[in-house]
Amino acid sequence: MDTLTAIHQRFSANRFDPNRPVSAELLDQLIDAARQAPSAFNLQQTRFFAVQDLEARKVLRAIAYNQAKVEEAPLVIVVLGDLNAHEQFEEVANADKQAGIYDQGLAEYFTNAVKTGYADASRAHDEAIRSGALAAMNLMNAATSLGLVTGPMIGFDQDKFRETFLISERYLPVIMITVGYNAPGNWPHKTRHPIEKLLERHGRPGEKNTFSE
Ligand SMILES: Cc1cc2nc3c(=O)[nH]c(=O)nc-3n(C[C@H](O)[C@H](O)[C@H](O)COP(=O)(O)O)c2cc1C
Repeated sequence: MDTLTAIHQRFSANRFDPNRPVSAELLDQLIDAARQAPSAFNLQQTRFFAVQDLEARKVLRAIAYNQAKVEEAPLVIVVLGDLNAHEQFEEVANADKQAGIYDQGLAEYFTNAVKTGYADASRAHDEAIRSGALAAMNLMNAATSLGLVTGPMIGFDQDKFRETFLISERYLPVIMITVGYNAPGNWPHKTRHPIEKLLERHGRPGEKNTFSE
């Protein structure tokens, strides 16, 4: 399935076939697709916490305000953002340098920029959400193209999730994604605003535009 078809076919699923597990190979394919998403400086702070055991999903369902899909979906992935990833940025800089993408000078420049920039907790937080959201979207589009359905969710108690599953405060929950096979009763992809409402076609300096008021 090509990317545009996957984008248009994806919908937020509420119902999943509880008897059809997602294979380990498919899970790896999903994370492989997710990790191709860009992140500022290629920091790659996004992490993935998969919950698959039925008993664990039952516990997670309670944390997600009893939303049934969290138990029904055979796979739930909580996307996390590592708020301390900048402290290990050398790993990224070295890998990109060794791949011949940039030289030692730029590696040092980026490392310094990341370590000082992300020491600001609000910057680290914003970038964790931004990068995690991009990765999550990659994951959901990949899932569609692999014949799976997904449901993005923020309706869960994030503190309780961290407490229950022993997740350090260092990892910010970005979004939860239920994953599985389609079951009857799902709504289709919903309506969208018309393009004209969303798009300013010719942004120019000093000119009033769609978003000036
Ligand atoms: C950040 C985010 C959080 C969401 N949280 C929930 C949720 O907690 N429970 C739920 O049933 N749907 C949740 N949704 C799904 C949205 O309701 C759904 O994506 C939207 O209605 C559009 O539907 P469509 O993707 O099928 O077109 C969430 C979606 C996003 C992007």
